[in-house]
Amino acid sequence: MERFLNRKVLLGVSGGIAAYKAAHLTRLLVKAGCEVQVVLTPSAHDFIPPLTLATLSKRPVLTDLFVRDGTGHWNDHVHLARWADVIIIAPATANTMAKMVQGLCDNLLLACALSAACPMFIAPAMDLEMWKDTGTQSNVDALRARGVRIVGPESGELASGLVGEGRMSEPETILAAVIDALIGRSKLNGMRLLVTAGPTQEAIDPVRYIGNRSSGKMGFALAEEAAARGAQIELVTGPVGLSSEQAGIIRTDVTNAAEMAVACKERFLACNAVIMSAAVADFRPAHAATEKVKKKEATLDLNLEPTEDILGWMGAHKPEGLRLVGFALETENAMVNAMDKLTRKNLDLLVLNSLRDAGAGFGTDTNKVTLLARGKDPVSLPLMSKRDAARAILDRLEEIL
Ligand code: CTP
Repeated sequence: MERFLNRKVLLGVSGGIAAYKAAHLTRLLVKAGCEVQVVLTPSAHDFIPPLTLATLSKRPVLTDLFVRDGTGHWNDHVHLARWADVIIIAPATANTMAKMVQGLCDNLLLACALSAACPMFIAPAMDLEMWKDTGTQSNVDALRARGVRIVGPESGELASGLVGEGRMSEPETILAAVIDALIGRSKLNGMRLLVTAGPTQEAIDPVRYIGNRSSGKMGFALAEEAAARGAQIELVTGPVGLSSEQAGIIRTDVTNAAEMAVACKERFLACNAVIMSAAVADFRPAHAATEKVKKKEATLDLNLEPTEDILGWMGAHKPEGLRLVGFALETENAMVNAMDKLTRKNLDLLVLNSLRDAGAGFGTDTNKVTLLARGKDPVSLPLMSKRDAARAILDRLEEIL
């Protein structure tokens, strides 16, 4: 199965002959779900045309800290370094590594590297003697001691014609090393997940609706955490005030339960798992008025009809191998009702939300959940951040995948 990285990657390219491989690495990163910002050192321009990398990364390539055209424009290295989830420098020349060790920052790439707090990987490439040089070796040790991960170099024929250590690792090897280090062996890597989030709004008339207090935070946390583990996410969300910077998420916005049902049915067969965390309305006005209801016409009666149970429908149409995760919010007989829902809706995992505990439930940044899987004892988790709750839910999902 294809593996995904789903990260915002700052790809630094310094000036060595292996820079030609940066084009292939850029392409692999984009295919692995990454947003890629290429930063070239000035001398890298002699080895690879920026147009090639800009086209492959779909972003302008950057090189200079300051644009000397009188506009006062500059490339904000601090912002760039903070934007990146990971920095990869490939190839890293002996010169660039030496400057990194010294903390020099006379080009944009070095300034970004110095400003970065994210994981950093470098793939050295140089000639045999340069690599063996004690200065270079002590620089590599110094970088490694600072937490920079070194990929390669490998042995083979070098551009000089010599044979030995110094070849840059192949782009596939570099990508695999980064995925192994940042994601490990998550079963979600390469899987496609449908995640729903937020409330639905059921129209009474063009301006009024029936809604609920769901903020979407739990669904977004699940989508982001699963994408960070290398899953491809289809996020179908009701109206929420949230956005996500996480790469690897395709977002579809819907308003009401009927639209959410259509969006989910279109996507669910292409997925390995569905996490239905949206608070879908159970009822909607039987007839939404096409014009705003005037105060004097309104009565206190609102005729409601049930919406389609999307999760129930998916449970009834679940193909072999697809895992279905539902949410439940119970106020009485929680455990008995939740167990019943698990079997009735043909689910693999049910997340029982607490509404009684302070800090749990709608709108908060924290949650307190109990996980119920078929044939297993329920696991009650303490109050934790929604991101940690997402981690626990996905850990459980990985166990049953
Ligand atoms: N759900 C759904 N479609 C609906 C309503 C709910 O897919 N029209 C999903 C929610 O996303 C959630 C789970 O079903 O994952 C919640 O079910 P809930 O509404 O609590 O369960 P019901 O079967 O409606 O049970 P109850 O009798 O408790 O209302």
